[in-house]
Amino acid sequence: MIRTMMTACLFDLDGVIVDTARFHYKAWRRLASRLGFDFTEDDNERLKGVSRMRSLDILLDVGGMSERFTDSEKQELADLKNGWYLEYVAAMTSADVLPGAVGLLTDLRRHGIATALASSSRNAGVILQRTGIATLFDAVVDGNDITRAKPDPQVFLLAASRLDAEPGGCVVFEDAGAGIEAASAAGMRSVGIGAADRLPGADVVLPGLAGVDYGCLKGLFV
Ligand code: BG6
Ligand code: MG
Repeated sequence: MIRTMMTACLFDLDGVIVDTARFHYKAWRRLASRLGFDFTEDDNERLKGVSRMRSLDILLDVGGMSERFTDSEKQELADLKNGWYLEYVAAMTSADVLPGAVGLLTDLRRHGIATALASSSRNAGVILQRTGIATLFDAVVDGNDITRAKPDPQVFLLAASRLDAEPGGCVVFEDAGAGIEAASAAGMRSVGIGAADRLPGADVVLPGLAGVDYGCLKGLFV
């Protein structure tokens, strides 16, 4: 894979731009509790970045209930979780954008770097609306645009193509192991957001976007 100068930055949403990863966890744990088992934060790491139905399968596996539900019952469980999740999202405002995100997106634009949102979530639209940050992205790709969620590279490749960017010039920002895997499979470099021990495949790991600007990314990726 040819790696060129950084021309585009692709951002995961949940856990990178907004703190909705904790809402996903809260809603999944509520579902597990309804089903009668405990669901820990460590278990939850496996759900990050993957699709809603895949997340449900992992959760049911943790609870030892993999074989218990029909497909339509599983759909009802996923809808229940999503209803709770959307209740939490409904209370969001622009104050819920994570520190550094708006500054970084603005600075990248100023330096001619294209920006895209690349999320597995089907709820990305409502979150962008609640927080008022949609205009900071040159392209938006979400769970409604793709057929294969992370760790498949589809979401990142589609985002790059919408920006007319070469994968080798894209840098992905991700808090999920599945997302870092997807970035590598797309031939892109990555910045892991979170704890380094949870994101071993990332090119660089940072605790968050606060203090990150074009200048420091240029030093790392150009
Ligand atoms: C990802 C989250 O962004 O979106 C996952 O990291 C989530 O935890 C996935 O399962 C799908 O989200 P949604 O909002 O479509 O249920
Ligand atoms: Mg995420």
